[in-house]
Amino acid sequence: MVAIAQICKDSYIDKMEIIKRFVVFEGGDGSGTSTQIELLRGKPGIWTTCEPTDGPIGRIIRSTLRGETALRPETLALLFTADRTEHLFAKNGVIDHCNRGEIVVSDRYTLSSLVYQGILCGDLPSVLNKNFPLPELLFLFDIDPRIAARRIENRSAREIYEYFEFQERVRERYKTLAPQWRQEGVRVAVIDASNPIATVAKEIAQEIDAL
Ligand code: TYD
Repeated sequence: MVAIAQICKDSYIDKMEIIKRFVVFEGGDGSGTSTQIELLRGKPGIWTTCEPTDGPIGRIIRSTLRGETALRPETLALLFTADRTEHLFAKNGVIDHCNRGEIVVSDRYTLSSLVYQGILCGDLPSVLNKNFPLPELLFLFDIDPRIAARRIENRSAREIYEYFEFQERVRERYKTLAPQWRQEGVRVAVIDASNPIATVAKEIAQEIDAL
């Protein structure tokens, strides 16, 4: 199968494998990625964004995550890839912002698909995501899923992946897959996400300043 990202990549980003100034936050549910993205929002020279996006495909994904739309896991894997294609390659998407010299920080990217959909759909997500370019810097928010669950237990609705056994597998897969990106030339920072918000924020700021 020719991956969708390969086609877009050839026409828009000239076979670049690592996108300079592209930073990604990854971690299990409740690991605090969204909180840290909020802290960076509006800082000069930084553009914050997230996946699923708030575009049309992202909205179908969110509805499925809330349990309001029932889709096969494989369909969801395809939707995440479609949403990502728009996120990266559409006008004013990730690539455009990076090309303007901004630092782009995204709450989740391909590794989320390799971890979450990889648990449910075998090799499909690695085929679908094979040709997406990599970020320059990846933060893995590592946390015991028990602590993470306590952080999000007060949210009004629980999403389909937010149960302990699944989150335990998510944590293990992240810890296996994230370091492999180092061999591809990505800077991988593993963060102890059980630390206070300010401590994590300081660690992130130091790494981003070094870009
Ligand atoms: P997130 O926005 O971090 O959760 P929240 O609603 O708590 O802010 O992410 C939404 C969910 O989507 C999360 O459980 C991870 C999942 N996800 C995937 O399964 N695959 C993907 O490719 C992406 C981007 C997210």
